[in-house]
Amino acid sequence: MTTSPILSVRALEKRYGTFIGCTDVSFDLWPGEVLAIVGESGSGKTTLLNCISGRLDRSSGQVLYRMRDGRFPDLDDLSEAERRFLMRTDWGFVHQNPADGLRMRVSAGANVGERLMAVGERHYGEIRHTATEWLSRVEIAAERIDDQPVAFSGGMRQRLQIARNLVTRPRLIFMDEPTGGLDVSVQARVLDLLRSLVSELDLAVIIVTHDLAVARLLSQRMIVMKSGRVVESGLTDRVLDDPRHPYTQLLVASIPES
Ligand SMILES: Nc1ncnc2c1ncn2[C@@H]1O[C@H](COP(=O)(O)OP(=O)(O)O)[C@@H](O)[C@H]1O
Ligand SMILES: [Mg+2]
Repeated sequence: MTTSPILSVRALEKRYGTFIGCTDVSFDLWPGEVLAIVGESGSGKTTLLNCISGRLDRSSGQVLYRMRDGRFPDLDDLSEAERRFLMRTDWGFVHQNPADGLRMRVSAGANVGERLMAVGERHYGEIRHTATEWLSRVEIAAERIDDQPVAFSGGMRQRLQIARNLVTRPRLIFMDEPTGGLDVSVQARVLDLLRSLVSELDLAVIIVTHDLAVARLLSQRMIVMKSGRVVESGLTDRVLDDPRHPYTQLLVASIPES
């Protein structure tokens, strides 16, 4: 067990005008840990994720991140260059809609290669080789490397978005409903792939999902949100098998039998 967290969220609050998007959220994330944020639609999950990942300005509170050199600054105190480094290299963001995380009209290979070029890789042959390798890791045939994602199915697009994010070997990945837009028949394969890559690469992940089965499959720990507040948190198995807050009990009871 590593002794220090990779991320620490303290008393985070986001207001939209007078409306509270989320408030009083605090938790630590450990290297290699998968944390699920669950709750019904409108409970503040995306607001929280976007504030943590720097995509949205928070109203108050702290978000501390362990840099590769061991420092643990608040993201607000980073220089623009450091922030860019995190976004391009150390972090990934997997959107629900792959079109938000891909360039739909450049080739699959370029979608993956672009992230490598952003971190300084210049050798065309190397970039293409690594891109091909990553396509194969996400089960996209090498002969599709020059095709554009517009020609791909939803599942393939999502797998390409995953490859684009992971190629720089990030330490932390944010995911917002990564299987939410996919047909049920395709979801299982993408989840399976995510699960094996996350464990193989020892990634820390914060995953937002309204689907408790996704949380069960991927996460070790979870927090449950309702109306912008955390109502329960704990080890995923404990929360799902023995929910303590009435709202969590309701969520768990409403999972359809399969
Ligand atoms: N840009 C915004 N302006 C005003 N209210 C917003 C904005 N974004 C989200 N909200 C509100 O904040 C609450 C939480 O939204 P969101 O974080 O998207 O929830 P979730 O991801 O759990 O569905 C909702 O009531 C939503 O309407
Ligand atoms: Mg959301």
